[in-house]
Amino acid sequence: MAATHFLSQPLKTHQNPLHKSLKTPFFSNPKIIPFKPTFKNLNLRAILSETPAKTQKFEHCFTKSEQDGYLYCEGLKVQDVMESVERRPFYLYSKPQITRNVEAYVEALEGLNSIIGYAIKANNNFKILEHLRQLGCGAVLVSGNELRLALRAGFDPTKCIFNGNGKLLEDLVLAAQEGVFVNVDSEFDLDNIVSAARISGKKVNVLLRINPDVDPQVHPYVATGNKSSKFGIRNEKLQWFLDAVKSHPNELKLVGAHCHLGSTITKVDIFRDAAVLMVNYIDQIRAQGFEIDYLNIGGGLGIDYYHAGAILPTPRDLIDTVRELVLSRKLNLIIEPGRSLIANTCCLVNRVTGVKTNGAKNFVVIDGSMAELIRPSLYDAYQHIELVSPAQPDAEVSTFDVVGPVCESADFLGKERELPTPARGAGLVVHDAGAYCMSMASTYNLKMRPPEYWIDEDGTVSKIRHGETFADHMRYFEGL
Ligand SMILES: Cc1ncc(COP(=O)(O)O)c(C=O)c1O
Repeated sequence: MAATHFLSQPLKTHQNPLHKSLKTPFFSNPKIIPFKPTFKNLNLRAILSETPAKTQKFEHCFTKSEQDGYLYCEGLKVQDVMESVERRPFYLYSKPQITRNVEAYVEALEGLNSIIGYAIKANNNFKILEHLRQLGCGAVLVSGNELRLALRAGFDPTKCIFNGNGKLLEDLVLAAQEGVFVNVDSEFDLDNIVSAARISGKKVNVLLRINPDVDPQVHPYVATGNKSSKFGIRNEKLQWFLDAVKSHPNELKLVGAHCHLGSTITKVDIFRDAAVLMVNYIDQIRAQGFEIDYLNIGGGLGIDYYHAGAILPTPRDLIDTVRELVLSRKLNLIIEPGRSLIANTCCLVNRVTGVKTNGAKNFVVIDGSMAELIRPSLYDAYQHIELVSPAQPDAEVSTFDVVGPVCESADFLGKERELPTPARGAGLVVHDAGAYCMSMASTYNLKMRPPEYWIDEDGTVSKIRHGETFADHMRYFEGL
């Protein structure tokens, strides 16, 4: 049940049998006193609201020219880039769009003490990370290797946050040594963070990742802040965690509270509902003598995947909806955007291998696939698809499934797309491929991960990651 639940019904203590077994031997008092938050006067409004965002339509950086019908990015014809690179498919980014996306957050956050923690899981390209770091971003990490990568890319550890429901002790030790913020996700996680502090000899700045039980109204695979999620601590167990922190003054310093509701969220009222709840928790935590300064509202802002002229909330809409709450409590605000910083900066550029029909359905078969870009197969996600060059005058417009060559029926990039029948060899892009595409790519069917390029401010195209090769694959067997 979502947050609005609190308006009508009192909280129940949990009947779950796990409740007992979750006691860690480490803490001597096994009694769990349910935390009793006071939600009476909270104004939660997401479920009630259909309020459209105030701002105007988003201008995509990959756009079709009305003059010549070609797809352009930052003044370059994507067709020309496609002809000039060593292989297809490939990812093509606009570096200026990355900058513009960060600037939108920086401007939105003016007047607040804040950290923009870029969620590295969205896209871990090293060159992109260096660029984001130069623009002032911190980093949000979900594994030891993401932490290592962030450090290599020069991120300031004091602007880094280590998240995750299954953080390993050795990774927590590295986080403690480097002085990054660590989110507490569970009883055993707290236990491991205390051990990491002892091993490293460093006190760890921790935030409690509280599950606020707010329904983000998104695909269940990307919902994380509702009751059924594996992430975060149960809000009614907050008191137990506060007592546990209190009993480890040499290892832990509680500095804030964190929540992350989910991803692809397109109603900012949902963030506000969560912030109202979180600020209420912060008030109650402060009332127990903790000096906590950070509210981390996670990431999750959605983007315009449909390219149908929708008006979606911007970073400013998001920040404005929590601004007064943050200022009223003199908090530092941490945000953890991934998708909204990087998704719309990139296309996966493919070549059409051929067109076929099974009598009932038409297929455009391309060289890219679910191996390079799995979101449509994994989440049934829509990503806009179009040809990079104008259609031949005699090309019939039909409805196609756009599919790859991978030996799976789940291998599709788009379903039921109306397209002019493309010629063999034509270029075809999958838009908004900057987030959770390359970072989720696999080598399934031995389709090696593709190269990545960006278009720079001066219009030059540079490679920012080599494509993987068969030789790379065979290296794993050398000497065995
Ligand atoms: C804890 C946390 N923070 C931030 C993000 C980034 O979310 P998004 O890419 O939707 O902004 C995620 C992704 O799911 C996450 O799990």
